[in-house]
Amino acid sequence: MSMTIAHMSRRFGATEVLRGIDLTVARGELVALLGPSGSGKTTLLKIIAGLDWPDAGTLEVNGEDWLPKRAQERRIGFVFQHYALFAHMTVAENIAFGLTVLPRATRPSPRQIADKVQELLGFLQIPQLAGRYPAELSGGQRQRVALGRAMAISPQLLLLDEPFGALDAQVRRDLRRWLREVLVQAGTTTVFVTHDQEEAFELADRVVVMGAGRIEQTGSPEEIHDHPASPFVARFLGMTVELPVTLRAGRAEAPGIDASALARVAMADGAATLFLRPSDITPVPDPEGRFTIRTIASTGAMLRLLLTDGAGGTEVEIEIPRRLAPAGLAEGGHVRLRPEAGRLFARTEPLSQSAAGAFATAHDPDAGRQTALSKEFTR
Ligand SMILES: Nc1ncnc2c1ncn2[C@@H]1O[C@H](COP(=O)(O)OP(=O)(O)OP(=O)(O)O)[C@@H](O)[C@H]1O
Ligand SMILES: [Mg+2]
Repeated sequence: MSMTIAHMSRRFGATEVLRGIDLTVARGELVALLGPSGSGKTTLLKIIAGLDWPDAGTLEVNGEDWLPKRAQERRIGFVFQHYALFAHMTVAENIAFGLTVLPRATRPSPRQIADKVQELLGFLQIPQLAGRYPAELSGGQRQRVALGRAMAISPQLLLLDEPFGALDAQVRRDLRRWLREVLVQAGTTTVFVTHDQEEAFELADRVVVMGAGRIEQTGSPEEIHDHPASPFVARFLGMTVELPVTLRAGRAEAPGIDASALARVAMADGAATLFLRPSDITPVPDPEGRFTIRTIASTGAMLRLLLTDGAGGTEVEIEIPRRLAPAGLAEGGHVRLRPEAGRLFARTEPLSQSAAGAFATAHDPDAGRQTALSKEFTR
């Protein structure tokens, strides 16, 4: 199926949770909705599923208005953020559930249901678990069963809301590789919600970045990674270092910063902010350099440097592969910064005090989370 959402809004009391969403999903496409907590991802999925309704806007599937349809009529598979299997049912019974509750006219025979369950168990690579109860499964096994339950009805559309949220990093990685194969093989149109960019990028054909009820950007993982469309997307995708620069002939200039590795941009001369990932900056030892190395910490593969800006005293954290670290980096030493990749946005209003010198996000309540994301991503 294909789906088109237009001008969709939803408010809860005074809070506008969705503010004019326009989104098209093509047949067989795997779309990831990526956004911070509270940006409206689950609300959008619930509306698609028929568990909630918008205040304005349209939802069409294969050209048909879906808003008047009840959830049961939509043939959607849904794995919830806080999923729960039926504890008193075996794995096979859990997977069969959606088929056994179909209206009699469309319900397959018990034989057909048993065959379908067998087929799914094989597909999900868990045939040996058919007779177990949820309490006897690992988290990753439960996720596969939840997915099997959602796929049993041959959904037109599969909605997955942070299905791997509760699992550890390695299991998540294994499961998402497996999931992508399963979904591509089945040709299932899928909308997948996550706030983990690595997960979104690895799984999806197309990534939709949401922020505060709006779509901030839509594009391939590479487009979004390399060309975030707004400061919001840049920050959310781990460009946590923000340097005030002056643009001249499409090039960023600032004392102590060598931006010659960055491509020229078609932007007017004037004040701008250069957004960088901590891992996209090379520190170049220079006794006259503007930045002082406060601390150097090794995470094994990476070196993490905490720098202070000689002028403003604000902090910049950067990260480089240890084996590529230039000789002569030492605590107390000075460096210039050479950005290898980054994104420029015109500065329309003065930077706040905290950002004026160089950009620490220490006063931003989301800073810790962004740093965590960027670390996860660059690991
Ligand atoms: N039934 C409701 N009544 C009132 N407010 C709600 C309701 N459901 C959601 N909200 C609010 O809407 C906003 C968006 O919630 P939503 O669950 O869609 O976010 P999300 O992007 O899925 O976040 P998370 O990543 O934490 O799951 C939040 O501020 C939430 O508190
Ligand atoms: Mg949610």
